[in-house]
Amino acid sequence: MRVHVADHPLITHKLTVLRDKRTPSPVFRQLTEELVTLLAYEATRAVRVEDVEIQTPVTTTVGVRIADPKPLVVPILRAGLGMLEGMVKLLPTAEVGFLGMARNEETFEPTTYAERLPEDLSDRQCFVLDPMLATGGSLGAAIDFLFARGAQDVTAICILGAPEGVAAIEKQVGDRDVTLVLGSLDERLNEKGYIVPGLGDAGDRLYGTV
Ligand code: PRP
Ligand code: URA
Repeated sequence: MRVHVADHPLITHKLTVLRDKRTPSPVFRQLTEELVTLLAYEATRAVRVEDVEIQTPVTTTVGVRIADPKPLVVPILRAGLGMLEGMVKLLPTAEVGFLGMARNEETFEPTTYAERLPEDLSDRQCFVLDPMLATGGSLGAAIDFLFARGAQDVTAICILGAPEGVAAIEKQVGDRDVTLVLGSLDERLNEKGYIVPGLGDAGDRLYGTV
Protein backbone atom coordinates (compact mmCIF):
# COMPACT_ATOMS: atom_id res chain seq x y z
CA MET A 1 0.00 0.00 0.00
CA ARG A 2 1.26 3.47 -0.85
CA VAL A 3 0.57 6.37 1.52
CA HIS A 4 1.01 9.94 0.41
CA VAL A 5 0.67 12.73 2.99
CA ALA A 6 0.36 16.21 1.50
CA ASP A 7 3.15 18.63 2.26
CA HIS A 8 2.17 22.00 0.86
CA PRO A 9 1.63 25.33 2.66
CA LEU A 10 -1.63 26.02 0.81
CA ILE A 11 -3.07 22.71 1.99
CA THR A 12 -1.89 23.30 5.57
CA HIS A 13 -3.39 26.80 5.49
CA LYS A 14 -6.77 25.55 4.31
CA LEU A 15 -6.67 22.67 6.79
CA THR A 16 -6.06 25.08 9.65
CA VAL A 17 -9.21 27.04 8.82
CA LEU A 18 -11.13 23.77 8.37
CA ARG A 19 -10.06 22.53 11.82
CA ASP A 20 -11.08 25.77 13.55
CA LYS A 21 -14.34 25.13 15.38
CA ARG A 22 -15.55 28.65 14.61
CA THR A 23 -15.53 28.00 10.84
CA PRO A 24 -19.18 27.93 9.67
CA SER A 25 -20.67 25.26 7.37
CA PRO A 26 -20.60 27.29 4.12
CA VAL A 27 -16.88 28.02 4.52
CA PHE A 28 -16.24 24.44 5.66
CA ARG A 29 -17.91 23.10 2.51
CA GLN A 30 -15.98 25.45 0.24
CA LEU A 31 -12.64 24.54 1.83
CA THR A 32 -13.41 20.82 1.66
CA GLU A 33 -13.97 21.13 -2.09
CA GLU A 34 -10.79 23.12 -2.59
CA LEU A 35 -8.74 20.67 -0.54
CA VAL A 36 -10.04 17.70 -2.52
CA THR A 37 -9.10 19.35 -5.80
CA LEU A 38 -5.57 19.90 -4.51
CA LEU A 39 -5.30 16.31 -3.20
CA ALA A 40 -6.82 14.94 -6.41
CA TYR A 41 -3.84 16.27 -8.33
CA GLU A 42 -1.63 13.82 -6.44
CA ALA A 43 -4.22 11.05 -6.27
CA THR A 44 -4.63 10.91 -10.07
CA ARG A 45 -0.91 10.62 -10.78
CA ALA A 46 -1.39 7.02 -11.96
CA VAL A 47 -4.69 7.53 -13.77
CA ARG A 48 -4.72 5.43 -16.95
CA VAL A 49 -4.37 7.39 -20.18
CA GLU A 50 -4.08 6.47 -23.85
CA ASP A 51 -2.37 8.20 -26.73
CA VAL A 52 -4.44 10.45 -28.97
CA GLU A 53 -3.39 12.27 -32.12
CA ILE A 54 -4.57 15.87 -32.47
CA GLN A 55 -3.98 18.81 -34.75
CA THR A 56 -2.73 22.01 -33.22
CA PRO A 57 -3.03 25.17 -35.37
CA VAL A 58 0.60 24.52 -36.29
CA THR A 59 1.07 20.75 -36.66
CA THR A 60 -0.03 17.25 -35.77
CA THR A 61 1.02 15.93 -32.38
CA VAL A 62 0.33 13.07 -30.02
CA GLY A 63 -1.09 13.76 -26.57
CA VAL A 64 -3.07 11.64 -24.13
CA ARG A 65 -6.65 11.32 -22.91
CA ILE A 66 -8.17 9.46 -19.97
CA ALA A 67 -8.54 5.82 -21.07
CA ASP A 68 -11.68 3.65 -21.04
CA PRO A 69 -13.14 2.31 -18.88
CA LYS A 70 -13.35 5.70 -17.19
CA PRO A 71 -12.35 5.99 -13.53
CA LEU A 72 -15.08 5.53 -10.94
CA VAL A 73 -15.37 8.07 -8.14
CA VAL A 74 -17.09 6.77 -5.00
CA PRO A 75 -17.98 9.24 -2.24
CA ILE A 76 -18.87 7.56 1.06
CA LEU A 77 -22.08 9.16 2.28
CA ARG A 78 -22.70 11.32 4.03
CA ALA A 79 -19.50 13.29 4.57
CA GLY A 80 -17.80 12.09 1.36
CA LEU A 81 -20.49 13.86 -0.64
CA GLY A 82 -18.87 17.14 0.38
CA MET A 83 -15.78 16.04 -1.58
CA LEU A 84 -17.48 15.09 -4.85
CA GLU A 85 -17.58 18.45 -6.64
CA GLY A 86 -13.93 19.11 -5.87
CA MET A 87 -13.01 15.75 -7.41
CA VAL A 88 -15.11 15.83 -10.58
CA LYS A 89 -13.83 19.33 -11.28
CA LEU A 90 -10.51 17.64 -12.03
CA LEU A 91 -11.91 14.41 -13.51
CA PRO A 92 -15.08 15.54 -15.34
CA THR A 93 -15.37 12.33 -17.41
CA ALA A 94 -15.33 10.02 -14.39
CA GLU A 95 -18.41 8.03 -13.47
CA VAL A 96 -19.76 8.35 -9.94
CA GLY A 97 -21.02 5.55 -7.70
CA PHE A 98 -22.27 5.86 -4.13
CA LEU A 99 -21.78 3.99 -0.88
CA GLY A 100 -23.73 5.03 2.22
CA MET A 101 -22.03 4.07 5.47
CA ALA A 102 -22.52 5.01 9.10
CA ARG A 103 -20.29 3.89 11.91
CA ASN A 104 -21.74 2.87 15.24
CA GLU A 105 -20.39 5.49 17.63
CA GLU A 106 -19.89 2.89 20.43
CA THR A 107 -18.47 -0.12 18.61
CA PHE A 108 -17.06 1.85 15.61
CA GLU A 109 -18.43 -0.89 13.33
CA PRO A 110 -19.63 0.49 9.96
CA THR A 111 -23.04 -0.36 8.52
CA THR A 112 -23.66 -0.04 4.79
CA TYR A 113 -27.11 1.50 4.27
CA ALA A 114 -26.92 2.41 0.57
CA GLU A 115 -25.09 1.19 -2.50
CA ARG A 116 -25.31 2.38 -6.09
CA LEU A 117 -22.31 1.02 -7.98
CA PRO A 118 -21.79 -0.85 -11.26
CA GLU A 119 -22.09 -4.64 -10.74
CA ASP A 120 -18.84 -5.25 -12.58
CA LEU A 121 -15.81 -3.14 -11.77
CA SER A 122 -13.30 -5.19 -13.76
CA ASP A 123 -10.43 -3.02 -15.00
CA ARG A 124 -11.85 0.02 -13.23
CA GLN A 125 -9.69 2.45 -11.33
CA CYS A 126 -11.66 3.57 -8.27
CA PHE A 127 -11.28 6.76 -6.26
CA VAL A 128 -12.93 6.65 -2.83
CA LEU A 129 -13.74 9.94 -1.11
CA ASP A 130 -14.12 10.13 2.66
CA PRO A 131 -12.87 13.11 4.65
CA MET A 132 -12.05 11.12 7.80
CA LEU A 133 -9.96 7.96 8.17
CA ALA A 134 -10.36 7.24 11.89
CA THR A 135 -10.40 3.53 12.91
CA GLY A 136 -10.45 2.59 9.22
CA GLY A 137 -13.63 0.53 9.56
CA SER A 138 -15.63 2.49 6.97
CA LEU A 139 -12.86 2.87 4.40
CA GLY A 140 -11.79 -0.76 4.88
CA ALA A 141 -15.33 -1.97 4.18
CA ALA A 142 -15.57 0.29 1.10
CA ILE A 143 -12.26 -1.00 -0.27
CA ASP A 144 -13.33 -4.64 0.24
CA PHE A 145 -16.62 -3.88 -1.51
CA LEU A 146 -14.88 -2.45 -4.59
CA PHE A 147 -12.34 -5.27 -4.90
CA ALA A 148 -15.11 -7.85 -4.48
CA ARG A 149 -16.68 -6.35 -7.64
CA GLY A 150 -13.40 -6.64 -9.52
CA ALA A 151 -11.81 -3.18 -9.16
CA GLN A 152 -8.30 -2.98 -10.57
CA ASP A 153 -6.98 -0.54 -8.00
CA VAL A 154 -8.36 1.77 -5.31
CA THR A 155 -7.10 5.22 -4.35
CA ALA A 156 -8.66 6.78 -1.26
CA ILE A 157 -8.58 10.52 -0.68
CA CYS A 158 -9.06 11.55 2.96
CA ILE A 159 -8.72 15.05 4.34
CA LEU A 160 -7.44 13.72 7.70
CA GLY A 161 -6.13 10.32 8.75
CA ALA A 162 -5.19 8.80 12.09
CA PRO A 163 -2.15 6.50 12.34
CA GLU A 164 -4.43 3.78 13.78
CA GLY A 165 -6.64 3.91 10.69
CA VAL A 166 -3.72 3.86 8.26
CA ALA A 167 -2.26 0.81 10.05
CA ALA A 168 -5.63 -0.97 9.99
CA ILE A 169 -6.07 -0.39 6.24
CA GLU A 170 -2.50 -1.48 5.54
CA LYS A 171 -3.08 -4.75 7.41
CA GLN A 172 -6.42 -5.35 5.72
CA VAL A 173 -5.47 -4.73 2.09
CA GLY A 174 -2.37 -6.96 2.01
CA ASP A 175 -0.88 -6.93 -1.48
CA ARG A 176 -3.93 -5.42 -3.23
CA ASP A 177 -3.23 -2.22 -5.17
CA VAL A 178 -4.29 0.54 -2.76
CA THR A 179 -3.08 4.13 -2.40
CA LEU A 180 -4.03 6.51 0.41
CA VAL A 181 -3.73 10.24 -0.16
CA LEU A 182 -4.12 12.27 3.03
CA GLY A 183 -4.26 16.00 3.62
CA SER A 184 -2.71 15.37 7.04
CA LEU A 185 -1.67 12.41 9.16
CA ASP A 186 -2.87 13.51 12.59
CA GLU A 187 -1.58 12.40 16.01
CA ARG A 188 -4.01 9.73 17.22
CA LEU A 189 -7.58 8.71 17.99
CA ASN A 190 -9.20 9.62 21.28
CA GLU A 191 -11.32 7.22 23.38
CA LYS A 192 -14.42 8.21 21.35
CA GLY A 193 -12.74 7.26 18.09
CA TYR A 194 -12.30 10.89 17.03
CA ILE A 195 -9.19 12.06 15.25
CA VAL A 196 -6.93 14.31 17.39
CA PRO A 197 -6.41 17.21 16.77
CA GLY A 198 -8.91 16.52 13.96
CA LEU A 199 -11.81 18.74 13.01
CA GLY A 200 -14.69 17.11 14.88
CA ASP A 201 -17.54 15.35 13.08
CA ALA A 202 -17.05 16.04 9.37
CA GLY A 203 -20.64 15.16 8.40
CA ASP A 204 -22.11 17.44 11.04
CA ARG A 205 -19.80 20.28 10.13
CA LEU A 206 -20.68 19.96 6.43
CA TYR A 207 -24.41 19.41 6.77
CA GLY A 208 -25.45 20.03 10.37
CA THR A 209 -26.51 17.50 13.01
CA VAL A 210 -29.25 15.20 11.75
C1 PRP B 1 -17.52 9.37 9.51
C2 PRP B 1 -16.54 9.67 8.39
C3 PRP B 1 -16.10 8.30 7.96
C4 PRP B 1 -16.11 7.53 9.25
C5 PRP B 1 -14.70 7.40 9.73
O1 PRP B 1 -18.74 9.03 8.99
O2 PRP B 1 -17.11 10.44 7.36
O3 PRP B 1 -16.96 7.70 6.99
O4 PRP B 1 -16.90 8.27 10.19
O5 PRP B 1 -14.61 6.61 10.85
P1 PRP B 1 -13.93 5.17 10.85
O6 PRP B 1 -12.62 5.29 10.13
O7 PRP B 1 -13.75 4.86 12.31
O8 PRP B 1 -14.87 4.21 10.18
P2 PRP B 1 -20.04 8.76 9.89
O9 PRP B 1 -20.18 7.27 10.12
O10 PRP B 1 -20.00 9.62 11.11
O11 PRP B 1 -21.21 9.14 8.94
P3 PRP B 1 -21.57 10.55 8.22
O12 PRP B 1 -20.61 10.71 7.08
O13 PRP B 1 -22.97 10.31 7.77
O14 PRP B 1 -21.47 11.66 9.23
N1 URA C 1 -15.64 10.70 11.96
C1 URA C 1 -15.56 12.06 11.99
O1 URA C 1 -16.39 12.73 11.38
N2 URA C 1 -14.61 12.63 12.72
C2 URA C 1 -13.68 11.91 13.41
O2 URA C 1 -12.80 12.50 14.06
C3 URA C 1 -13.76 10.50 13.36
C4 URA C 1 -14.75 9.92 12.62
